[in-house]
Amino acid sequence: MTATTTPLGSLLEPTTLAGLPLNTRFVMAPMTRFRSPGGVPTPEVAAYYRRRADNGIGLVISEGVLVGHPSAGHETSVPRMTAGPAESGWRRVTDEVHAVGGRIAAQLWHLGSARQPVDGIPAWTPSGVPGNSHAMTLADVDVLLAAYAEAAGVAVRAGFDAVEIHAAHGYLLDEFLWPYTNRRTDRFGGSPAGRAAFPAEVIRAVRTAVPAEMPVIVRLSQFKERDYAARIAESPAELAVILDAFAAAGADVLHASQRNVADPAFPGSPRNLAGWAKHLTGLPSITVGSIGLTRDFLGSPALRNLLQRLDAGEFDLVALGRILLGNPAWVTLAAAGRLDEIHDYRKADEDTYF
Ligand SMILES: Cc1cc2nc3c(=O)[nH]c(=O)nc-3n(C[C@H](O)[C@H](O)[C@H](O)COP(=O)(O)O)c2cc1C
Repeated sequence: MTATTTPLGSLLEPTTLAGLPLNTRFVMAPMTRFRSPGGVPTPEVAAYYRRRADNGIGLVISEGVLVGHPSAGHETSVPRMTAGPAESGWRRVTDEVHAVGGRIAAQLWHLGSARQPVDGIPAWTPSGVPGNSHAMTLADVDVLLAAYAEAAGVAVRAGFDAVEIHAAHGYLLDEFLWPYTNRRTDRFGGSPAGRAAFPAEVIRAVRTAVPAEMPVIVRLSQFKERDYAARIAESPAELAVILDAFAAAGADVLHASQRNVADPAFPGSPRNLAGWAKHLTGLPSITVGSIGLTRDFLGSPALRNLLQRLDAGEFDLVALGRILLGNPAWVTLAAAGRLDEIHDYRKADEDTYF
């Protein structure tokens, strides 16, 4: 590779995502950073997102932001999407990102069973899990639909360009999708359609709370943080049932989380989960997973393969996670061939914040 040719091809081209113009096809993946004391993003948080938006990231997706119900999370340094100081903190974040021509989505999060039972509040889950957890009633369903709608409204007021609903990785909405944690016998359990019903109602509630032109993104995964082999869909046909419910509820974009972008989602096809999500629904999709973690990725067959698949329309946008923690200007440097200024991802980057 030489400094005279960009290895990033069409990733650097502008595009439009569900009507939202983006400067490039790079997305910053949502990453929890615990830097918002009392749930309020600080000026440091705004500078952190601005730096990525100013360096080739077309769409920043915020870290998971707790919806405003006490069951959503227990960590006090995880940001919240609530009126008052948190909303003002987010307004500063979106202003900073917009000042450099970037776009930013808010990821709305409820931890489900991962919430620790502090303050006398148990974890809310679809069916209860051993220990201190609460199986959600139908009244609780309505409470959380209102909480998601309220949070989406705050995100709109705070200036976000899009909202992403976190339905991945084993948190509340994914616990509804996963048969292992969803043992309900009412209309929110059972078949893939039943398991998708509560996440779909959340999508509908958010869709209703935001302007018609604002993209609603849904993040999903097969794997769970506590079980990498877990699956919400055993076949493309099952996945289609779930994603059709999401699309019917108003999802505009599907963000399919995988640990490695190159992993096929189902046997018999190289298509990954983002590829299947787009193929089955016709909706644009975002892919992610172990992209660019080492410098030799630039100029590698892995990058060429990714570009071929992007150009063939398997998926539309490409998210970077961990590599951006220690290399906020990764896209700028990679595009310019300034490889000696890039360093490989290392775990210690998760302790830095700039
Ligand atoms: C420190 C850290 C925090 C994360 N927090 C979130 C989160 O809040 N929401 C989410 O959907 N994914 C979260 N993820 C997953 C990332 O969005 C991404 O999918 C994952 O890191 C894989 O991409 P990568 O290989 O490019 O890092 C987190 C990952 C890391 C490393």
